[in-house]
Amino acid sequence: MGDLPAHIGIIMDGNGRWAKLRGLPRIEGHRCGEESIMVTVRACARLGVKYLSLFAFSTENWERPEEEVAFLVGMSRDMLRRRLDEFMSLGVRMRHLGRRDGIPDHILAWFDLAEKATAANEGLTLCINFNYGGRGEILDAAARLAGNARREEIMPEELDEELVKSEFYFPGLPDIDLLIRTAGEMRISNFMLWHCANSYIHVSPVLWPDFREPHLKEAIDHYKRISEESESDF
Ligand code: IPE
Ligand code: IPE
Ligand code: MG
Repeated sequence: MGDLPAHIGIIMDGNGRWAKLRGLPRIEGHRCGEESIMVTVRACARLGVKYLSLFAFSTENWERPEEEVAFLVGMSRDMLRRRLDEFMSLGVRMRHLGRRDGIPDHILAWFDLAEKATAANEGLTLCINFNYGGRGEILDAAARLAGNARREEIMPEELDEELVKSEFYFPGLPDIDLLIRTAGEMRISNFMLWHCANSYIHVSPVLWPDFREPHLKEAIDHYKRISEESESDF
């Protein structure tokens, strides 16, 4: 078997379908997704995965009904509030990835507080992609690089991948080795386009609120198998 993936990205999808199947409002699916997040964080921390990036709210998700948006925005803060002590005891370092513009200040304050409180932790790095879009991240980096070039801090011919990455939301973040999407759809949905350039993809039929450790292990085993097979092709 191949190595453990160092960086796992998850497109956590299917909360709405999970709720609908039970005749519940969509927000109940999001509420129950918190347990799946915690199960996944604990398992990744224990297994020794170095980075976990979770797609929690996309730049496109603002188009959803107002009540659902309000719930998702509030839930991100409440979750950090509820789980910060556990992140500390697990040695988890938390980072927010996404555009700050558009996120209410009282939510950003919690992202900042959790980042600061966990900054020295040396276990799993947990990236929360919130108000995140893959194209937006590349565009934001391009805009800053153009500004740097205009001020003659960099020369256009110096531009390389390292310089582009240095302007991303989290400059030191490595590429995603294993991309998991739940709820069966085979789409990227504008998630970490740069970091997924060479990722292995595991699509699970399981709806996110039902996602548990065996489903994560299945994805990791799939990754170990296929990454080893492709290495032995050379
Ligand atoms: C994913 O579940 C959670 C977010 C996008 C925040 P959905 O809410 O997209 O669930 P489905 O796709 O409607 O089932
Ligand atoms: C992707 O799920 C975004 C998140 C998981 C936050 P969506 O349900 O919003 O994406 P689409 O609509 O399938 O592209
Ligand atoms: Mg969806």
